[in-house]
Amino acid sequence: MSTHPGFDVRRFKAQERAGFNRIAARYAEGAHLRADLAQALLDAADLAPGQRVLDLASGPGLLARDAAARIAPGGWVLASDIAEGMLAEGARRTAAEGKADALAFAAADAEHLCLPDASFDRVLAGLALFMFPHPQQALAEMRRVLRPGGRIALSVWGLREYVPLIARAQDCIARLLPPPKVARPSVFRFGDAAALTAILEDAGFADVRIAPCPFRCHFADAEGYWQAFLDLAGGAAEALSRLPEATQATLRAAVAADLEGHRGADGGYTVEALALVATAAA
Ligand SMILES: C[S@@+](CC[C@H](N)C(=O)[O-])C[C@H]1O[C@@H](n2cnc3c(N)ncnc32)[C@H](O)[C@@H]1O
Repeated sequence: MSTHPGFDVRRFKAQERAGFNRIAARYAEGAHLRADLAQALLDAADLAPGQRVLDLASGPGLLARDAAARIAPGGWVLASDIAEGMLAEGARRTAAEGKADALAFAAADAEHLCLPDASFDRVLAGLALFMFPHPQQALAEMRRVLRPGGRIALSVWGLREYVPLIARAQDCIARLLPPPKVARPSVFRFGDAAALTAILEDAGFADVRIAPCPFRCHFADAEGYWQAFLDLAGGAAEALSRLPEATQATLRAAVAADLEGHRGADGGYTVEALALVATAAA
């Protein structure tokens, strides 16, 4: 991927890491909103007892935790993320739930994995590929650590017009705040199945299968929607947290107005999202 002029990879990754560390607990709390997507990814991964699984850019490792139930007995799952606070949150939760068996956590940048070649049967990467400044490099790493014939299962956001869950908040930010000095890579950039297929095939993956996964989130009020956006978007949350309170209040009011089209009979808001779930063979 060609990055935007002035784009500083190290700075971008540091901001994402700081942002996701900041929101780790709330991210885990809000994950139930995307439960259908997590289920679709795990089903597509075709997990079986005894497999070794890497959950890459795992966040708090909720996919890893649920994968661990599917690869027992005899399997093993490693949850890995650049944000160590996410991993600590995941380790704390799985220990409290008594689900820490066959599950380990280790911090790593997805573009530079210190893991041996051909050491996993499956690599999972939920809502992650678009986070990487060099997605081809991350895919090359995923393929390297998969045994021949092993499979990747990942999810990405669909095209922007089908993801008001993210777009409503982004539209308000774009309208009310000065443009960033350096544009961030779009989280929708693999939302077209052809673009996703192309990058997977360019990385050497075969038998690419892609399925749309539409889902809806319900919020009792506009504040709930805005908080859910902040709890999902690490780097953006980090930048927005530095704004004066008055600016943050203006954003919240603008979001409430923009959400009117999603209001239901109960006074709450139902906001749609589309993700793509892809699997492919190494
Ligand atoms: C939207 S969250 C997805 C978390 C989880 N996979 C899920 O499905 O809920 C994106 C995650 O990518 C992680 N991330 C961002 N850049 C990364 C990188 N270069 N290497 C590894 N993880 C990264 C973030 O820290 C964050 O936990």
